[in-house]
Order: sequence, then structure tokens, then C-alpha cells
Amino acid sequence: MPQVSSKEFGKVQGKPVELYTLTNDSGAKAEIITLGGTLVSLYMPDKNGKLDDIVLGFGNLEQYLTDSPYFGANIGRAANRIAGGKFTLEGSEYQLAVNNGPNALHGGEEGFNMKIWDAEGYTSGDSACLKLTYTSPDGEENYPGEMNVEAVYSLTGSNELKIDFNASCDKTTIVNLTHHSYFNLAGHNSGKIYDHNLKIEADQYTPVDENMIPTGQLKPVEGTFLDFRSPKRIGEDAEEAAKEYTSGFDHNFALNKPENEYGLAASVYDPKSGRKMDVYTDQPGLQFYAANFVENLKGKQGALYNPHCGLCLEPQKFPNAINIPSFASPVLKKGEIYKHSISYSFSTE
Ligand code: BGC
Repeated sequence: MPQVSSKEFGKVQGKPVELYTLTNDSGAKAEIITLGGTLVSLYMPDKNGKLDDIVLGFGNLEQYLTDSPYFGANIGRAANRIAGGKFTLEGSEYQLAVNNGPNALHGGEEGFNMKIWDAEGYTSGDSACLKLTYTSPDGEENYPGEMNVEAVYSLTGSNELKIDFNASCDKTTIVNLTHHSYFNLAGHNSGKIYDHNLKIEADQYTPVDENMIPTGQLKPVEGTFLDFRSPKRIGEDAEEAAKEYTSGFDHNFALNKPENEYGLAASVYDPKSGRKMDVYTDQPGLQFYAANFVENLKGKQGALYNPHCGLCLEPQKFPNAINIPSFASPVLKKGEIYKHSISYSFSTE
């Protein structure tokens, strides 16, 4: 039988943050806190059935409030970069907090990752589930409209961690939600992910300028270090990637599947542990970020995290899409429902 339990993880200004543990029949386990819907740990079996925690994280709430490079968090209202933090909607101009060089990044000073969500744990068939909800007030982080957002986590009996988002708003606004776990399939404290093999279902990517804002073009990955059309060791072209404005792999891939269609986006395999992760989404883009900016962070269980010790595969709309008309739009009109499903699906080989 799948199981769900909860306990207190800490308090923010007197308000408790709960930690929910979802466990399936084979013992795989996800721990999620109500601050940001953050995935604090994820235990998955290796080829010999040994469970290891394969996401980077902290052992205490304080670090999630002060030090976190979005470890395990759900990101909103708008993931990734918006040039100058500016956009225009229905004739009104909006200025978001500029919190990443000249850009707005990942929802602002206090994005959804910093909010305490309401939570309800339950089981459904062979899945252990957690439904998280949050109401973002009109004007929060300068985004228009009151937004109701829901993130449902399901840990299935077949070792799939699904996240189903939906959102609606009482005014026209923008939304682009994603999940920001840093995975290391060899175990969270195993050093660089350079020996992982990665395959991304994308023939094209969105090149960026010196501020990491897409130029608006789509370019073929063929002949570049971003060619992951066949499985490739991440370390193979890491030096090439480090010469870029992005200081390593930190790129948005334009997925081959039709937009809005749910399908495979990427697969990662760690030969040492035999763990494999397949990522599915219905969004058009996938940001692959190799933890370039993680430096000397004290993690849970005595771990020390340094550059490239994890990888993020973040399904989303393209960066700065609100200002680039040729990219799929992140505009959500009053009365419409935004939906986004992600699956991180685990197996061994
Ligand atoms: C971005 C990186 C950024 C990181 C913050 C990623 O999603 O692509 O550029 O530094 O988030 O932790």
C-alpha cells in the first residue's frame, strides 16, 4: 500500500512548514515541504535495488530560506529570464523585480518557491499523492491578477514522480511554472554528474545574448556541443559549454514533439548506479542547467555541493517568451486554465 505521512520541518515567522513523505509499495520515497512545494529528497533504487537519495537538498529550513539556488522548488509565476523584468499586457506595462543581472528570474524576490502552500496528502490506486495549493494575491511580485495555483505530486507504484500543475487568474496575466530539482542519479553526494549520459529530444535550441536572453532564433544543435540527440556523456563537451555566456550547460532546448502534446523530453542514465530517468512534459521547452553556479553549499547529511554536482531538467515555455512573439505565449487570460504536467520516471538498466 502506498503511504503518506507528515511532520513539522520548521517554522517561518511562527507559521509551520510541514514535510510530507510519500512512499510507494517498493519503498521509493519522496519528501516534500510545504515551502515552495520543495522536493527535499527522493529515494530511488539502483540496479541492485539499493535506495539512494538522488536530489540535492538541505537538512534544515533555514538554508531553504537563505541559501537555496532553487533546490527542488516549484518555480512561478514565470520561470527563467524576462529581459529587464519588463513586459506589456493589454496596453499596461509591468516591471518585475530585477534579481539576476539585468533580468527577472524565476518569479522574483519571493517567487512561489518561497511561499508556504496548503497541503493535503492522500493515496490513489498505487500512488502516494500530495496536493499543494497557493493563492497569489493581485500584484504579488508586480504580476497582475489574483492567481490560484495547484501542484499535485504523485509517486506512482512504477517509480514515477509526476507533478501536475494548474493555474487560473482573475485578470489577464503571465504564467510559466516549472520544477527545479537538481538530480544526481549516483546519489546526491556523488560529485560531478559528468559521467551521466544525456539524451534530449530536441533538434534545435534558443541561442542567447550576453545577458542570457534568447535572440529569438532557433538554431540546430547539430555540430554544436548542444547535440544530445543521441546519448552523450555530459562531461564530453563541458569545457566547450563553459566558454559560453552561460558558463556551462544552461540552455533552453526546443523540443521536437508538437507543442502542448505530452511526450518524452529527455533521458539521463548513470552507468555506475544503473539508474535511468526519463522526463516527460507537455511544454515546448526544456532548460538543461548543470549547476554551474552552485559553489561550496553545505547540503543535507554533511554533503558539500560544488559546480556540476547535479543537473536540472526544467520543462517550460521558452525564456523571455512574453517579449518574443514567435515563441509560444505565456499569457493566461482571465477565465482560462493553465495546465502543465511533468513526469520524472525512474528505472534501472
Ligand atoms: C537557470 C540558471 C540559474 C539557476 C538558478 C536555472 O534554471 O537556468 O541560469 O542560475 O536556475 O539556480
